[in-house]
Amino acid sequence: MVGFASARLPPAVPLDLYSSIRDQRLAALRADVFPRLPIAEGRPLTLEIGCGHGHYLAAYAAAHPEEFCVGIDLLEDRIDRATRKATRAKLTNLVFAQAEASLFLGALRECTPPARLRRIFVLFSDPWPKRRHWKHRVLQPALLDTLAPLTEPGATLHFRTDHPDYFTYAREVVADHLAWRLASPEEPEGRWPFEHVSVFEERSLAGAPQSFTAFRLAENQARGLAH
Ligand SMILES: C[S@@+](CC[C@H](N)C(=O)[O-])C[C@H]1O[C@@H](n2cnc3c(N)ncnc32)[C@H](O)[C@@H]1O
Repeated sequence: MVGFASARLPPAVPLDLYSSIRDQRLAALRADVFPRLPIAEGRPLTLEIGCGHGHYLAAYAAAHPEEFCVGIDLLEDRIDRATRKATRAKLTNLVFAQAEASLFLGALRECTPPARLRRIFVLFSDPWPKRRHWKHRVLQPALLDTLAPLTEPGATLHFRTDHPDYFTYAREVVADHLAWRLASPEEPEGRWPFEHVSVFEERSLAGAPQSFTAFRLAENQARGLAH
């Protein structure tokens, strides 16, 4: 686990201090987290962004021993709890790390050989209901741009939320992106891959969650792919 506080910095942090914290976080990812992932073996990863307490991913990893799973979250206490869960369950195909998504994905892109993601989950991520806060939502065009070069055609992105407006927004973001295609609910591959109630799903008072799966398109289908 990367040992530093939340990636959300107050606006008053001077730029040079911010850069130095960012550099420390990157160094910690490279030294402590990446060596525990099977990147050098060329094995693709299953990633949960904003894994919280790790309920869902721990159950997923136990049910899919052939996949190597990584869960990341901003908050140290959640990653500590998730890590204890993985240790208790003796899961050798699961690592949790405290990391901010864009920093983590940017660092993954610089790995040699290049890291690859086969499956990405974004579950019950904070909806940030006010329009002026939408820039904080995890699922937005910049995330899809960053994920595209880390994935191969056919890689899947699975999104679930209990917030109807965020669901509509996220679907539109994916539908508008040239590198990703929304699966129709009738497609067998579009079915939700694994059911297990997460902590925030259990806490949800907002009614039935909504989900979608999206596929990474091949380069010749995806004109304008950001590299
Ligand atoms: C509402 S919780 C959902 C947690 C879990 N997926 C669940 O369903 O129980 C959202 C989580 O995303 C994390 N998060 C928010 N923005 C993030 C980012 N940019 N990078 C990594 N984690 C993030 C938060 O710290 C929080 O734990």
